[in-house]
Amino acid sequence: MVNPRRELFARIRIARKRIRPDSGFAGSLRSTRDSEDPRGQPRRMQTSPDTFRERALSVFPAGSNGEYGIPADLIPVIRSGKGCRVADADGREFLDMTMAWGAALVGHAHPKVIEAVMKQAALGANFAAVNCRAVELAERLRSINPALERVRFVASGTEATMLCLRVAIAATGRRRILRFEGAYHGQHPIGVAGMIHGKHVTLPGCDSSGAGAPWVESDVLVAPFNDAAGTEAILRAHATEIAAVIVEPLHRCLPPAPGFLQSLRSLTRELGVALIFDEVVTGFRLALGGACEFYGVTPDLIAYGKALGGGFPIGAYGGRADLMEVVEESRLPGPRYVWSASTSGGNPVSCAAAIAALEIFAGEGVYPALRARGELLRTGMREVLRAAEEPAQALGEGPLAQVAFSAAPVTNNQQWLASDRAKGRDLMLQLLRQGVFLNPMGTKLYLSLAHGEAEIEAFCDQLARALTVIQRAGAH
Ligand SMILES: Cc1ncc(COP(=O)(O)O)c(C=O)c1O
Repeated sequence: MVNPRRELFARIRIARKRIRPDSGFAGSLRSTRDSEDPRGQPRRMQTSPDTFRERALSVFPAGSNGEYGIPADLIPVIRSGKGCRVADADGREFLDMTMAWGAALVGHAHPKVIEAVMKQAALGANFAAVNCRAVELAERLRSINPALERVRFVASGTEATMLCLRVAIAATGRRRILRFEGAYHGQHPIGVAGMIHGKHVTLPGCDSSGAGAPWVESDVLVAPFNDAAGTEAILRAHATEIAAVIVEPLHRCLPPAPGFLQSLRSLTRELGVALIFDEVVTGFRLALGGACEFYGVTPDLIAYGKALGGGFPIGAYGGRADLMEVVEESRLPGPRYVWSASTSGGNPVSCAAAIAALEIFAGEGVYPALRARGELLRTGMREVLRAAEEPAQALGEGPLAQVAFSAAPVTNNQQWLASDRAKGRDLMLQLLRQGVFLNPMGTKLYLSLAHGEAEIEAFCDQLARALTVIQRAGAH
């Protein structure tokens, strides 16, 4: 019997052999990819017992630094990573489909990043001051995206979005923020407000998404993503109070509807509201110029993180020079001054890693290849889901993918909430058991430059297997 997925990958292999223009990309793949067969169970490389899991459970709440939500007996404690694979303290090897939540887009331990980091570390790791690598990186960023007229470095995406919001609030003299339902902008109060609903709210009302910052609800308005008319109505009704609209241009794994980001741009411009793109995920991933380049829209302020650091901690925020003036210390303690200081922001080691990462990203054919691999992944996933007779969608754009168990298309947060998310989590946990490292809570899958067609095919095989297991379990 013909297996359509096998056919799909065979067709692609033949087409690839014919084209092969992406030599830069293939070269970097070869240098980072492990030689072993990616299929099968996690391999045991050592036999000595290890208690890292128990130790993690005793020192970290829920055994982790946050979000994974993995059952205690399944928590892998990672020891090392190379290319698109990680190994844990028990000696098991995993195909990594989360890649440090996207931070390791270059692949784990990329030789060029390691070289740059070692060289810089020998010269000093942090001066908490302007340094040569930071200047070079800032210049590169501005040459990639001229909208970044002024930029400052921080150490995470959380800080980057938080500072964008504070800059907008100070520069406009308004106090409220409009953001989109279900979006995540980092672990500060506005970053999570409106992300998950613990109680019933009617938009534009806001649920602070858990405890710890109940006051945030009065400062945040929440709009439905991909609903231009609904967003416009909220914006116009509260125009004089709203400092900024913050948006993930690719909302989790949901692409913007045609014209949606453009409508946000023209409305915010008309109403004197700052438009902030949270490019922590999309930056350097959808294109070298991120979502700004990919979707052709220029915001007023931009937050970066993740992939920029080549796996090292980094964040950057910036945009219009007239808005960024509010962080200039000469304004202290004026009413329009925003305190902005990051001990590790702009540290030369992270900046050196970022410069190396940007050089890798600028290689010929990198983005067409990365997007093609993302498309291959989603197509393969759809084949698997169809063959398993699962009414489900493969969401995403660029090198990102996510399964939504829903018969209907998923284009906004309400449709996502209506999908069978418990089944999605079961599937992710089963994949983890089978040797695919991922985040069963976030459920978003990230490819890297180190993922080739063999790894994508192997992942699809694992997906098919995992689906069979959860279908059987569900039938009982
Ligand atoms: C869209 C988005 N913004 C901001 C952040 C926060 O970045 P960080 O975890 O580096 O603080 C994340 C993290 O996942 C994110 O996905």
